[in-house]
Amino acid sequence: MFKFVPSKIVKQFEAGGDLITLRYPKMKDVRGAMTFINALLEERARIRMSKKVTLREERKWLKGLTNDIKQGMKISLVIEARGSQVGSVALVRRAKPPSPIDHWAEFGIALAKQFRHRGIAERASRALFRLGKSLWKLKFVRSTYDADNVASATLHRKLGFKIITRIPRGAKYNNKYIDEISLVKDLN
Ligand SMILES: CC(C)(COP(=O)(O)OP(=O)(O)OC[C@H]1O[C@@H](n2cnc3c(N)ncnc32)[C@H](O)[C@@H]1OP(=O)(O)O)[C@@H](O)C(=O)NCCC(=O)NCCS
Repeated sequence: MFKFVPSKIVKQFEAGGDLITLRYPKMKDVRGAMTFINALLEERARIRMSKKVTLREERKWLKGLTNDIKQGMKISLVIEARGSQVGSVALVRRAKPPSPIDHWAEFGIALAKQFRHRGIAERASRALFRLGKSLWKLKFVRSTYDADNVASATLHRKLGFKIITRIPRGAKYNNKYIDEISLVKDLN
């Protein structure tokens, strides 16, 4: 049985001169998590949010996240460097296990701008998938990206995802519709 240990380190590696730590979240992350997510919103990065969050909202979100991790709904890891949150990577189930769809989960990732292009996303994703396989016995991972998100397309290709379909106008960016690419990665 999985026991959630806040802040537990999953993996550490060096990238571009920084020690990168992948670890479970803890409630004390709240301020750093808010700063991280609001910087992505400021940048208008391709995340599934459009409004900046307050400390109060982030605290509520973090409580919910902790609960979801304990319930086996999410595996969510903080990517940390220089003592701050610089990224987030997660696997999310759509229904509480046991369920007829507990053999797959959805993948999400975002990195702070100054930490991109160092291979961090690829290494963090691979570590996350290993965890999904060992903890949840996942058979595959599903993902999506906006059709014009070149960084995400490259990352998914490197990770071995296969494109399943293209959903016309599946997403919006700057008030314009964009096709959404839907993918699957086999974990066997
Ligand atoms: C997508 C994202 C996580 C990639 O992070 P990253 O750490 O830069 O990715 P990596 O360094 O591991 O790179 C993986 C591959 O993608 C390539 N890549 C990364 N950014 C790229 C870009 N902007 N254009 C083209 N290729 C890119 C890398 O060169 C690398 O390929 P290589 O090993 O052949 O050089 C990051 O750009 C990000 O957080 N973007 C904002 C949020 C977002 O779009 N999330 C994904 C939503 S689906």
